[in-house]
Amino acid sequence: MSKTILEFPPGPKFSLRLLSQLSKDPIKTLSNFAQSYGEITHFKIGNGHVYLINNPDYIEKILIYNHKNFRKGKRLQTAKRLLGEGLVTSEGEKHDGQRKIIHPLFLPKRIASYGQIVVDKTSLMCKEWEDGRIMDIHKEMMNVTLRIICKSIMNYEIDSEEASKFSSALEVSKKYFKRLQHPIGHILDHFEILPEVHKSRESIKTLDSIVYQLIEDRKRTTSMDRDEGSGIEVEKEDDLLSRLIQAQLLSIMKSNVKQNNEFDQHQTNAISDLNPMTDQQIRDNVITMLIAGHETTSNAVTWTYYLISQHPEVEQKMFEEIDSVLLKNMDGKKKIYRNPTIKDLPKFRYIEKIFRESMRIYPPVWSIGRLAEEDYLIDKYTIPKGSSILMSQYVMHHDSRYYANPSEFNPDRWTDEFERHLPRFSYFPFGGGIRGCIGESFAWQEGILLIATVSSYWRLELIPNQKIRMDPGITLNPKNGIKMKSRIRSI
Ligand code: HEM
Repeated sequence: MSKTILEFPPGPKFSLRLLSQLSKDPIKTLSNFAQSYGEITHFKIGNGHVYLINNPDYIEKILIYNHKNFRKGKRLQTAKRLLGEGLVTSEGEKHDGQRKIIHPLFLPKRIASYGQIVVDKTSLMCKEWEDGRIMDIHKEMMNVTLRIICKSIMNYEIDSEEASKFSSALEVSKKYFKRLQHPIGHILDHFEILPEVHKSRESIKTLDSIVYQLIEDRKRTTSMDRDEGSGIEVEKEDDLLSRLIQAQLLSIMKSNVKQNNEFDQHQTNAISDLNPMTDQQIRDNVITMLIAGHETTSNAVTWTYYLISQHPEVEQKMFEEIDSVLLKNMDGKKKIYRNPTIKDLPKFRYIEKIFRESMRIYPPVWSIGRLAEEDYLIDKYTIPKGSSILMSQYVMHHDSRYYANPSEFNPDRWTDEFERHLPRFSYFPFGGGIRGCIGESFAWQEGILLIATVSSYWRLELIPNQKIRMDPGITLNPKNGIKMKSRIRSI
């Protein structure tokens, strides 16, 4: 029998220069590939085949219809050192069971209940700012979104000291994970004597200690409720921690319990699919939700404020919308606003467009990777088992086939008509399918309410002479932050 010869799509030849370009500026390099080679680019890194897919229909097939053929890509395998086997990084039954346990926290009614938290935490931050204060807006947004995620899905008030410990440790870990993507990063990782490696281990220990403390505290109160709860009606918590802890109790009792009314059916079903929920697994899920639930949103809002600061006409239109919804009265020349509520959300049509357009230009997750578990056919090409697949939101969102003047920030392009004609996966900041973002609706609500609240207090001016650059790790951070000055709104 003759052996089938694989035909590869066009693409660059492997070279050290290519490797260096990919590691120094992956966004530019992948964008150039799509420009030069079309909808499917093939290249090799060492012995591994990599395919960059830049066609919305192919992406839809990979993420939705044929998702079972793929697992998460190499970058997320590396991230397991920090995230363990939580919702973002786990696979198969383990993933599906965890998703069932966590999913109820993101039902519409629950998300609506987080709205007030978003506004409260944001307005608290705004009240701490002063006129003329210069700050790194990225840091401010990281801080406030961390507080929001802790309170909303864990009913936990993180204090300033703990928040800053968490954020600094996360920064060190992120830098380190970026270095691990480097071709020799894995080798260096074995040498704990190296200061960077040592620092990264310490940072993970810090994050762990915060998270394990949280779990311990909650377990103590949960068991007190059970032991001492005779006759006293205590309102049961139903948040991330309690769900995971209940799942652990349930998995311990599972052999004896068939149908226990204390636990909801949804959760019982999820557990029956699961390996026992260990402390490590609770930790992995808490840390995953904390990081996934605040880093992305804070990047999105940071880039949004950068873009607004460069487009006074957009800023003006946004202020007009905020005035029409939130302006209560005037005190002399001073405008007095009320805080937004979730009932106002449908009225912030323009802010929604701004946020949408900002995530087009700077998608917080700029690429998604998968590994093919079996040979896979795209177009006329067979992608061999074990190959890496890359789908880049950044590249797709800047494709002139779908977006006229793709680098122009134009919120008005998002008319109903425009959206109707856009192929589903030409805009996919939240991915899609079974591994799509569980927090998508929450993120939309959070982004819009946060922007409406901040911009009812302040106007943010970009400090001149800064080099604003992208720093593409797993998420798209601004390199060295973005310095802005808060100005009392006078228009
Ligand atoms: C603007 C904000 C956000 C963006 C752009 C974003 C983007 C994404 C993307 C692209 C994925 C899919 C990754 C893949 O397929 O490999 C994802 C997954 C995920 N996101 Fe988000 N996300 C955001 C906010 C949030 C929030 C607020 C939460 C939680 C409160 C969250 C939790 C998660 C989790 C747990 C997953 C993994 C889901 C699974 O595999 O089942 N994200 N996100």
